[in-house]
Amino acid sequence: MSEAFGVRKAPFVIEWRDGFKISIAQIDAEHQHLFQLVKALNLQSADQKVNELLDYVVTHFSNEQALMEKSGYPSFEQHLKLHEEFGAQVAEFLGSGEDWTEERVQDVRRFLNKWLIGHIMTHDLRFGRWYKERQLTAPKPIAASKEQRGFLTRLFGLK
Ligand SMILES: [Fe+2]
Repeated sequence: MSEAFGVRKAPFVIEWRDGFKISIAQIDAEHQHLFQLVKALNLQSADQKVNELLDYVVTHFSNEQALMEKSGYPSFEQHLKLHEEFGAQVAEFLGSGEDWTEERVQDVRRFLNKWLIGHIMTHDLRFGRWYKERQLTAPKPIAASKEQRGFLTRLFGLK
């Protein structure tokens, strides 16, 4: 199926751009870092890089969710579900036990980039707009609570 695209061998990299901003500085900085971690995935240290990235995804989701909850975002529960679904998809994607190949690294990168862009530009942006409209004061960085971290870590099925 994949060969049909004909560009299989070209590295699949999507760079962060300002157009991905949702106008919440902390969240934008975290999203930018996520893109850097996706870009940094490589075949030589695939397991390590993937684990590092997923660790940061958990931290980021926890921070974003804490901000949503704290600010009373009406679609918080819905958004939480999207994060959980992503966790399930990642676990399924990575749970195949296949050996790492350049193609698989690119598949993971492609999957993560596409999910991130789709999620940020639809759901996170919606939150950014709501947040701005409410003119809430800028939040302090919020550390992930142990409860959330544990829950998401279990969801990802990864250490
Ligand atoms: Fe999100």
